[in-house]
Amino acid sequence: MASARTLLVIGKSGQLASALQAREGGVACLGRKDVDVLSLDSLRVALAVHEPRAVINAAAYTAVDQAESEREQAMALNVVAPRNLARVCADAGVPLVHVSTDYVFDGEDAPYAEDAPVHPLNVYGETKARGEQAAMAQGGRVSIVRASWVFSERGSNFVTTMLRLAKDRAEIDVVSDVAGRPTSAHALAEACLGVASAMVADKATGGVFHFANDGEATWSVLAEAVMDEARVRGWKAARIKPILAAQYPVKARRPRDSRMATDRIERLLGKAPPHWRVALGDVLDRIERA
Ligand SMILES: NC(=O)c1ccc[n+]([C@@H]2O[C@H](COP(=O)([O-])OP(=O)(O)OC[C@H]3O[C@@H](n4cnc5c(N)ncnc54)[C@H](OP(=O)(O)O)[C@@H]3O)[C@@H](O)[C@H]2O)c1
Repeated sequence: MASARTLLVIGKSGQLASALQAREGGVACLGRKDVDVLSLDSLRVALAVHEPRAVINAAAYTAVDQAESEREQAMALNVVAPRNLARVCADAGVPLVHVSTDYVFDGEDAPYAEDAPVHPLNVYGETKARGEQAAMAQGGRVSIVRASWVFSERGSNFVTTMLRLAKDRAEIDVVSDVAGRPTSAHALAEACLGVASAMVADKATGGVFHFANDGEATWSVLAEAVMDEARVRGWKAARIKPILAAQYPVKARRPRDSRMATDRIERLLGKAPPHWRVALGDVLDRIERA
């Protein structure tokens, strides 16, 4: 029997969706087998069954380099899906929290405020920027939560990749001239739940929010921190060799400094998130316990 207090999450096995599922009772997570995000009818059925107090969209096409050659798939999940979801939420009068990314920015003008102009450098960022606009254009109550450099104990992300590489390598080359704000999926989940609750409590809450764990880093600084945490736990660790982004060619161009200012969400939630080093320790604790 569905509860009127259910919080509906679109996405099940991803970093954010899993963190949301772990967070709270009363959360229903729908994976791709449970709902077709490209079908308005399928989404309408999901809303009718769960009667949620709010919806969080944690589903996305997130393969940044692959998106350069899979534009259609990225468009479908990152533009059509949030548009559909915002449409059915608007029709049902249910607030929607849609998650987006720092990659909507070009990295030339950090730190970014919520109203800074978007200028994505790659297909992934372009589709996410278009998805934000499509969601907000449906006339319902929408909050966009832009996150950056998300890591968790699940799946393939920067932190789990560093730990995996350290198992067979003495030294890992890591880019040292790209800056951002690392963010744990668990901190992001808490922020999304906070925004959803605020939207339920106050009909005026909405618009764009930036969320990240406190502090900032380069990829090589984050990698060093992962190795420090690994050493403390007696795991294999590697030396981190800082290199320039120009020495590490990838398919998709990335912003060189995508740090976002998070004052607006901190005011809404009434607190600052923990520093990313604390969040990193928490995620490594979770890996250790698993
Ligand atoms: N990862 C990052 O570094 C990062 C940085 C900034 C912003 N973000 C944003 O944060 C949000 C969450 O990202 P994440 O890291 O949790 O992503 P993720 O781990 O890659 O998970 C992607 C989610 O999308 C769902 N999904 C993928 N293909 C689908 C399809 N064809 N149909 C339906 N659902 C599909 C997956 O559903 P299943 O549960 O069914 O597998 C999964 O729950 C996204 O909006 C992303 O753009 C991520």
